[in-house]
Amino acid sequence: MNPLGSKSTEEIEQNLLLEAIHQRYHYNFSGYSPRSIARGLARAQQYFDCRSLSLLQDKVLHDPAVLPDLLNFLTIQVSEMFRDPDYFKALRELVVPHLRTYPSLKVWVAGCSEGEEFYSLAILFREEGLESRTIFYATDINPTALRRAQAGIYDLDRLATFSENHRQSGGKSSLSEYYTAAYGAAVFDKSLRSRAVFSEHSLVSDEVFSEVHLVSCRNVLIYFDQGLQDRAIGLFRDALVRGGFLGLGAKETLRFSRHADDFGSFRRAERIYRRMAPHLLGAEVGHAVS
Ligand SMILES: C[S@@+](CC[C@H](N)C(=O)[O-])C[C@H]1O[C@@H](n2cnc3c(N)ncnc32)[C@H](O)[C@@H]1O
Repeated sequence: MNPLGSKSTEEIEQNLLLEAIHQRYHYNFSGYSPRSIARGLARAQQYFDCRSLSLLQDKVLHDPAVLPDLLNFLTIQVSEMFRDPDYFKALRELVVPHLRTYPSLKVWVAGCSEGEEFYSLAILFREEGLESRTIFYATDINPTALRRAQAGIYDLDRLATFSENHRQSGGKSSLSEYYTAAYGAAVFDKSLRSRAVFSEHSLVSDEVFSEVHLVSCRNVLIYFDQGLQDRAIGLFRDALVRGGFLGLGAKETLRFSRHADDFGSFRRAERIYRRMAPHLLGAEVGHAVS
């Protein structure tokens, strides 16, 4: 806002551009954190060599080929395999014993980016002997990221971090068993994808999966305002079986959500929650979210 209480030119242009993207392509960024959108658009302006967001709006409205690149600026694709190893360690040591009790399993990796989180879970489930009974849904709003996830190819210089994270997460083998190195890239074994369905899905506008036992949605909600976070958390609640697990990112919480009462805190430090079920009330893993 300027001193007269009216919006700045940049704010008006940003709102109009987002509205144009919504009306033309149905991607709705209105509930995203304005700061991260503004940062992404500033970088997009440079990339597309546009002096103003109005010019960028003109470009994206008249040339659909611009949209995929623009989406890469509006969504953040920072990820790592076994990111926050303690999260994956807690899944392995504390969640897997519960999952073992089910004859078949569904896992939803929401906001899977270029696949790092999905491959981490696929490897963990293989190491724990659960892979053959599991179907993975790996979803993201960004089609370019999803294509990369399906390819499973990463720059070799990222593998030292991935391998160390895997080791710290309690990995039972060497990460190198799951990929082949060639021409500066690590190509992950395609058998890891044999139980996976990759699809475009937006937590803003799409509907729910059903009878899921674990939802892992990490470092996505931080980009959403509270209303949008509530929508996504409502989807996770409706997707999960009673007693099913929800894992969030290290800076995310259910605490302020209007759906908080539908979950119990399973591992506070690792942001793992459990959908409430009558038999869990008051049990060791059913602490109310606070
Ligand atoms: C920072 S990455 C997180 C990647 C991975 N989950 C992790 O923790 O390493 C955020 C991801 O959320 C995706 N995303 C953003 N808005 C989304 C939406 N409305 N629905 C689904 N995914 C979304 C982005 O495309 C991006 O891949």
